[in-house]
Amino acid sequence: MNPDFTVRETSRVYIASAPELLPELVADRRVVVITDATIDRLYQDLIAPYEKILIGRGESIKTLQTVEQIVRHLVALGADRKTFLLAVGGGIVSDITGFVASIYMRGLSFGFVSTTLLGQVDASVGGKNGVNLDGFKNMVGCFTQPEFVICDPAMLQTLPEREFRAGMAEIVKSSIIGDEAMFERLERTTLAELRRDRELLTAAVRSAVRVKAEIVERDEREAGDRRLLNLGHTLAHAIEKSTPKMIHGEAVAVGTAVVADVAARMGLIDSAQRDRICALLVRLGLVIAPPVAMSKLLKVMTKDKKSAGENLHLVLPRAIGHCEVVTVEKQQLATWFM
Ligand SMILES: NC(=O)c1ccc[n+]([C@@H]2O[C@H](COP(=O)([O-])OP(=O)(O)OC[C@H]3O[C@@H](n4cnc5c(N)ncnc54)[C@H](O)[C@@H]3O)[C@@H](O)[C@H]2O)c1
Ligand SMILES: [Zn+2]
Repeated sequence: MNPDFTVRETSRVYIASAPELLPELVADRRVVVITDATIDRLYQDLIAPYEKILIGRGESIKTLQTVEQIVRHLVALGADRKTFLLAVGGGIVSDITGFVASIYMRGLSFGFVSTTLLGQVDASVGGKNGVNLDGFKNMVGCFTQPEFVICDPAMLQTLPEREFRAGMAEIVKSSIIGDEAMFERLERTTLAELRRDRELLTAAVRSAVRVKAEIVERDEREAGDRRLLNLGHTLAHAIEKSTPKMIHGEAVAVGTAVVADVAARMGLIDSAQRDRICALLVRLGLVIAPPVAMSKLLKVMTKDKKSAGENLHLVLPRAIGHCEVVTVEKQQLATWFM
């Protein structure tokens, strides 16, 4: 089967049935699966043919300790350079697995079966992997492309509604960055319909993967265009730092609505386009009001080491389907939002 996308020449992304495709992609190799107990229980048949290492769940296990545990487990299993590491799971499992595979015996081949919407449209594609350190996200890691990624929309059936909805925020984000037609299609649908309609969901996943793959193709290391993928993320990270109330995609929805408002205030888009962005997020059941006072979020944003100085570099929509990195004065933001 031909991949739907090829990233950086070697990394093949398939939007397809994992049970059908996986055996062919790993062929006769020794495979060690890394997954968590939930996914292991739900997808026993897929995982059963291979050796496996179970890890815990949640952001708190994305640490060097977990990496060390997996490495020790691989040593105990006698895994060697020819062993193939396969992550079956969401972004946590794939970020950790990609990192372990990059360092175990100086590097093994690896691949992902991505099982969350966020994983399929974002975390699994692009070659960034790593773990957190002392609460700082993704402090340790590298860029290594997986040999393949399988995004199987059928596996999203079992995903809790909240995770599904949060993943939709990333699809809306991608459509604002680079797929106006998908944005319009989403405007005509509902969350329930997206969960039911496999063809539509597959198209939405494909659209977001295409936007990401094309950008990563031009700029793997985030020296230029890859920054566009951070639409809505500067504020989202501040929200995630300030409150446990929102998971990542939920915070991205708020961040996206706020930057649409900033873009409208700066005259980069008209207010009708801002309203469409906000309305689509709300239509999909996402909250767009900040869960913490904007004044607090702006303080967190301006304390961030990456944004020293008088200005912030924000990704702002110039139209639905087109974004740019724009320099915005922190003082100006404070006047608007505090
Ligand atoms: N590498 C990148 O470029 C990149 C990009 C975006 C996000 N990320 C990372 O991704 C992580 C978040 O990933 P996530 O949102 O996928 O969360 P996650 O990996 O924690 O998965 C969410 C939960 O859903 C469960 N789950 C997974 N698939 C399921 C399924 N099909 N059915 C039922 N339950 C299922 C998991 O057990 C888990 O408890 C963060 O650590 C973030 O930093 C990485
Ligand atoms: Zn994100």
